[in-house]
Amino acid sequence: MVIRCFCESSLVNNLYVRAELLTLSHERFRTTPSSYPGCLLPGDVFNSAFLRIAESSSDVSSTPAIDLSSLESLNPLHGRISVINATRLFHLFNEDKQLHLARALAGLLSAQPGSVICGDQIGALKKGFTGNNLLGSQLFAHTPETWASMWNGNVFEKGSVKVETDLLDRSVHGKQLFLLRWSVTRL
Ligand SMILES: C[S@@+](CC[C@H](N)C(=O)[O-])C[C@H]1O[C@@H](n2cnc3c(N)ncnc32)[C@H](O)[C@@H]1O
Repeated sequence: MVIRCFCESSLVNNLYVRAELLTLSHERFRTTPSSYPGCLLPGDVFNSAFLRIAESSSDVSSTPAIDLSSLESLNPLHGRISVINATRLFHLFNEDKQLHLARALAGLLSAQPGSVICGDQIGALKKGFTGNNLLGSQLFAHTPETWASMWNGNVFEKGSVKVETDLLDRSVHGKQLFLLRWSVTRL
């Protein structure tokens, strides 16, 4: 199962997921509710009622499929998602919250080898808060090494995933900007 997933928090930046966005997406991508059965699920990823950290990775391969349109939280999807994209998301949070979010997303990932979580965000040559970014705010940035060791050992059991990263060095409007692109694949 692959989900085009939009997580929005009205508390964070006053953006609301609205049903019209899905309709618009069908128009833009020339899909229909049957050719692309996507759904929009608003919620705060740090609210355990919406996304709690699963105690263990569950094998749900023999359980019936879930009707996505009936979902009110991500929790029923534990162990069911084969591809999770978390683009430009992690750097919004401090180090502890990034670890929490990584564990929470890991719990959603299918137990099947090849299942993957990927994304990109502001990176750094030295782990820590960096104000040197286009947003101008303090963002917590990992290095490729600290990012890889968080996933491989802290989030997933060491050796059970392959973490791939690259750090792009971009100069935008005179500011040096590092973009950390990554994927975490179950072995
Ligand atoms: C920079 S946008 C990236 C959106 C999208 N991934 C993309 O690449 O276009 C960051 C997104 O994180 C969402 N967000 C921030 N805090 C959140 C939270 N606590 N729970 C769920 N979503 C959150 C915001 O609503 C926003 O849509």
